[in-house]
Amino acid sequence: MTATIIDGKQIADRMQAEIAADVVRFQAEFGFPPGLGAILAGDNPASAQYVRMKRRACEAVGFHSVAHIMTASSTQAEVEAAVAEMNADPHIHGILVQLPLPPQINEERILGLVSLDKDVDGFHPVNIGMLGMKGREPRFTPATPTGCMVILKEVGAQIEGANAVVIGRSNIVGLPVALMLMKANATVTVCHSRTKNLPDVVRQADIVIAGIGRPEFVKSDWLKPGAVVIDVGTNRVDDPTTEKGYKFVGDVEFDKALEVAGAITKVPGGVGPMTITMLLHNTLKAARRLAAVPK
Ligand code: GUN
Repeated sequence: MTATIIDGKQIADRMQAEIAADVVRFQAEFGFPPGLGAILAGDNPASAQYVRMKRRACEAVGFHSVAHIMTASSTQAEVEAAVAEMNADPHIHGILVQLPLPPQINEERILGLVSLDKDVDGFHPVNIGMLGMKGREPRFTPATPTGCMVILKEVGAQIEGANAVVIGRSNIVGLPVALMLMKANATVTVCHSRTKNLPDVVRQADIVIAGIGRPEFVKSDWLKPGAVVIDVGTNRVDDPTTEKGYKFVGDVEFDKALEVAGAITKVPGGVGPMTITMLLHNTLKAARRLAAVPK
């Protein structure tokens, strides 16, 4: 079997073109564009790069974009003040607090202060709670897991009744994607570092979501033939054959997995571009809701 390679960039480009067209209509109707406010605290180069990419994407679709960049020694009060300022800013409809925050900052408190109306990352505990509860719907769902779900639908994966195995239980990926799969009527198993017989568990999966952050950790002989594999990992590994001396690989042994899986996402160019697109989607949705509220 040779797997279909899922090109997330292609899906993302199409969706971003649709968002850009919606922004033109939004601007014509309301006289201002949707706006995203990003808060970055600390000196993590990957986080800084993610925020730059998110802001670039905002500008490409015609959003207003503001960033509050703070040092690694920022205080709790300073980060809280940045959130409060963006909560009150009528030109900002979505707020993104880039994670991780420096260790002296209480992340739980910060995420709980983001206005529910502007919680486009879906990390407010109320939104996560709604996501987990039967019969409730969160206002926004987190970007990376939402991107995974969109990809599954795009490739026509049967989610209802499927055995879905999520590897990794992070607040950003593993937990919310497991909740979303459960809501979509999959039978979900969440695996982590203390799971016993992980290969045997993964072998039961019709859908595998790999979000463990370890390069090529998931081996091809763990996969059920025909499984749909969504690789959320972006791991930097040394590669002297490249100009930069490094490359990015996913959490799944991609080349060999191609021979077993039914479909698999690329890394890079799979889930990554979808994450940014879902953030844009959520920000447009937030702007529409806020613009519709009578002043
Ligand atoms: N850090 C890693 N992924 C994410 C994400 O999707 N949103 C935010 N805010 N921080 C992250």
